[in-house]
Amino acid sequence: MRILPLLPLLLSSLFLLRTLRLPTEISRSDPHQTLFDEAFAVSFRNGCDIFRGRWIREEDPLSRPPYTEESCRFLTRQVTCRRNGRPDSLYQQWRWKPHDCELPPFDPISLLQSLRNKRLMFVGDSIQRTQWESMVCLVESAVQGRRNKFVYRDPPRKIFFAKDFNASIEFYWAPFMVESNSDHATKHSVQRRVVRLDAIAEHSRRWEGVDVLVFESYIWWMYQPLINATIGTEEIKEYNVPRAYRLALQTWSKWVESSLNPQTQEAFFMTLSPTHLWSWEWRAGSNGNCYNESHPITNEEFRGAGSSLEIMEAVKEAVGGMKKMKVMILNITQLSEYRKDGHTSVFSERRGKLLTREQRSEPEVYADCIHWCLPGVPDTWNEILYAYLIYQSKG
Ligand SMILES: *[C@@H]1O[C@H](CO)[C@@H](O)[C@H](O)[C@H]1NC(C)=O
Ligand SMILES: *[C@@H]1O[C@H](CO)[C@@H](O)[C@H](O)[C@H]1NC(C)=O
Ligand SMILES: *[C@@H]1O[C@H](CO)[C@@H](O)[C@H](O)[C@H]1NC(C)=O
Ligand SMILES: *[C@@H]1O[C@H](CO)[C@@H](O)[C@H](O)[C@H]1NC(C)=O
Repeated sequence: MRILPLLPLLLSSLFLLRTLRLPTEISRSDPHQTLFDEAFAVSFRNGCDIFRGRWIREEDPLSRPPYTEESCRFLTRQVTCRRNGRPDSLYQQWRWKPHDCELPPFDPISLLQSLRNKRLMFVGDSIQRTQWESMVCLVESAVQGRRNKFVYRDPPRKIFFAKDFNASIEFYWAPFMVESNSDHATKHSVQRRVVRLDAIAEHSRRWEGVDVLVFESYIWWMYQPLINATIGTEEIKEYNVPRAYRLALQTWSKWVESSLNPQTQEAFFMTLSPTHLWSWEWRAGSNGNCYNESHPITNEEFRGAGSSLEIMEAVKEAVGGMKKMKVMILNITQLSEYRKDGHTSVFSERRGKLLTREQRSEPEVYADCIHWCLPGVPDTWNEILYAYLIYQSKG
C-alpha cells in the first residue's frame, strides 16, 4: 500500500532516465562524436571505489555482451567457449556495478581517439593476452572497413593496429615480467623453468617509449612453493616464491622509475587474476572445480584461497615505494573472485588442440579454471582501465 503513491514518481523518473539516455543514442549516428559521462566523472573525482561492488545481470542485449564470438573476428579459439561447446551463456550477461557509482559506458571511439598516434601495451602472461583480446574486440567495431584494422605478430608481441587512428594495442609476452627461459612467444613450456630475478633489459628495451603500459604477472610464479631462479652470475637456486616475486618487482620498479616519463607515459599494474580450482570454497562439502558453474558468487565476503595475500602486499609495497612514476594499481582480484562461472573450463584447448569429447567428460582432469571465456570477465577489467584512461585527469 505504501508503495503505490510512489509509482507515478517512479514512472516519471524512468521517463527522465530515458530522455537522459537520448543524447547517447544520437551520438551513435555520428561516428566522430564521443561519449563523456559527467555523472561518472564527478563521482570518480569524489573517490568512488570502483573495485567494490557486485555483479548485476544485464537484461539489455545491446549492452551485454559488448560484442559476440561472431562479431569479433580477432577472438582466438582458446576463449570462444560457446563455439567450443559451452551450453550456457548467462556468463556473458553480467555487468559490474560499483556500490557508489556506475561504470561509464565504454566508448570505443573515445578510447581510440585518446590513443591516436599512440601505443597501448599489455605486458604479461596468457591472462593478459586474454585482456588484450578483449580490448581489441571492445574497440574494433569503431574502425570502419576490414582493411583498416588488423592483427599481426612481431614476437613476442601481437599487435592490433587501427589505421585511421594510427593507434596500436599490443600484447607483449613476459610471463614473469623479468627475464626467464619461458620468454619465447610460443615455445615456452620448458622442462626446467628458471627466472632471472635481476634481469629485465631484454624486455624493457621494447617497452621504452610506449605511451600506456599495463603490467600483470602471477600465475607462472604459483606452481610450487619454491621457484628456481638466478641473481647475476650466481648459480641457479631455489627461492621461496614471495621472496623471488619481491626481487623481481624490485627489478621492474627500478626500470619503471628510471625509464618512464610521468609527463608523457602512463603505467598500470593489474592485480592477480583469481582461480576457481576448488568448489568446496563456495559450496561446502562439494569436491569439484569451476566446471558446470553458471552463476557468480553473491557472498561479498568471499575470498579464494588461491589468491596470495603475500603477493598482493608485495605489489602494494613496490608500487607504493615509487617516487617519480605513479603506477595505478587496478585491483581486479576481488571482483573477479566472484566469477566462478567465467572460466573456460572444458570448453577450450590444451596445447593448441580443442579438448575432445572424452576429455570434456573428465572435468576433474581437464577443466581450466584459470583462463576466462570471452566475451566475459576481462571485458570488465578493460572497462575499468578505460575509466582510468578517459576520466582520471579530466572532468
Ligand atoms: C603513428 O604513431 C606512432 C606511434 O605509435 C608515431 O611514432 C608516428 O609518428 C605516428 N605517425 C603519424 C603519421 O603521426
Ligand atoms: C630446481 O631445479 C632442480 C635441478 O634441476 C630440480 O631438481 C628442482 O626440482 C627444481 N625446483 C623447482 C621448485 O622447480
Ligand atoms: C553439471 O550440471 C548438469 C545440469 O545441472 C548435471 O546434470 C550434471 O550432473 C553436472 N555435472 C557435474 C560433474 O557436476
Ligand atoms: C586489492 O583489494 C583487496 C580487497 O578487495 C585487498 O585485500 C588487497 O590488498 C588489494 N591489493 C592491492 C595490491 O592493493
